[in-house]
Amino acid sequence: MPRQESLELTRRVLKHFENDTLDIADDVWREPRGAYVEQDRFVADVEMLRSVPHVIGWAGEVAAPGQYTTKDVMGVPVLVTRGKDGALRAFINGCAHRGAQVADGCGKTRMLQCPYHGWTYGLDGRLTGTPARKMFAGADLDKRGLIPLPIGEQAGLLVVGLSADVDVSTALDGIAEPLSDYGFDHNHHAETRCFDIACNWKLAVDVNFEGYHFPYVHADTLDPLASNNSVYDIYGRNIRWVFPFRDIVAYRDVPETDWPDQFFGTVVYGLFPSCVLIEAPGTSQMLRAYPGRSPGETVVYLSIGAPKEITTEEERAWYKMGIDGAALVLDGQDFPMAAACQRGLEAGVDHIVFGRNEPLLHHLSSVRAQALAGGMR
Ligand code: FES
Ligand SMILES: [Fe+2]
Repeated sequence: MPRQESLELTRRVLKHFENDTLDIADDVWREPRGAYVEQDRFVADVEMLRSVPHVIGWAGEVAAPGQYTTKDVMGVPVLVTRGKDGALRAFINGCAHRGAQVADGCGKTRMLQCPYHGWTYGLDGRLTGTPARKMFAGADLDKRGLIPLPIGEQAGLLVVGLSADVDVSTALDGIAEPLSDYGFDHNHHAETRCFDIACNWKLAVDVNFEGYHFPYVHADTLDPLASNNSVYDIYGRNIRWVFPFRDIVAYRDVPETDWPDQFFGTVVYGLFPSCVLIEAPGTSQMLRAYPGRSPGETVVYLSIGAPKEITTEEERAWYKMGIDGAALVLDGQDFPMAAACQRGLEAGVDHIVFGRNEPLLHHLSSVRAQALAGGMR
């Protein structure tokens, strides 16, 4: 984020430190259990999620001509390429022959070859080669290729739509400025881990947006380092939540001109509907949560980015340590709590309540309701 904004966040946080306060909501919020356990609501959620744009990666993952990457987005295999012409494209990662995925992971190439029967494709999605092509006379192969999906790049992030009619161009309007200066358009992909969690997708997102649980869930990890004297900002359907490292108090005695460019703490962005960016000095993480096959199942991808290409074993070990630490907190501490809440809701807890000290959970519920009502398509 721009330096001026980082300084302003530090001022706001220091004020909260002095008073031992945090940004709060005006009231409490009740969310009925149906939002997490009912099949009808689950079906409506999935339909809504398929109709809105999703942030799925850093533009730096496909910065150079010939680079490609693959992502699972709500069970849809997505292929993103940077063509020889420099154009960014996305496709359903499904072969025009029988549907197999034509690419896996990420890399750099001139063409893609399906592993099943060897059909080949250009990075522009055109079918360029078919073994025993004569055997397909009458199958209109000239008209077949990879099926394109809408894709855009905003604030250095890749934004994809899961069907042709999704407008990806405005997904990050309003929050593009705070997201600038992170260099997402240069971020390389270090590693991704996948977690299956026995909770509703909304619970998996929400664990990232309140610090009320820090002393209980993260007593031995986050809590000794970070405090919940937090501030938040809302940018339409997107959000930013900022909590400081405890040592930020030392800045009270330092002139602002000597404060660092980057905020001394963790800045968490919620990019509607279910992408979370976690930015702290020395680390850049992206978490994507998608509903599984039932209201109580979620698939989460946790990715860690690197500001430059990883070339040495030492660098690889460094990023492995980073994702190990993130996984320890998320999968070892947060996600089991989300699964515990799901069990309680399934057992009959009639509604849950968000306190005034959990203000962003109010906002997340509110924008989801608006989107379900069709207000954000
Ligand atoms: S499924 Fe791809 S070549 Fe057969
Ligand atoms: Fe947590």
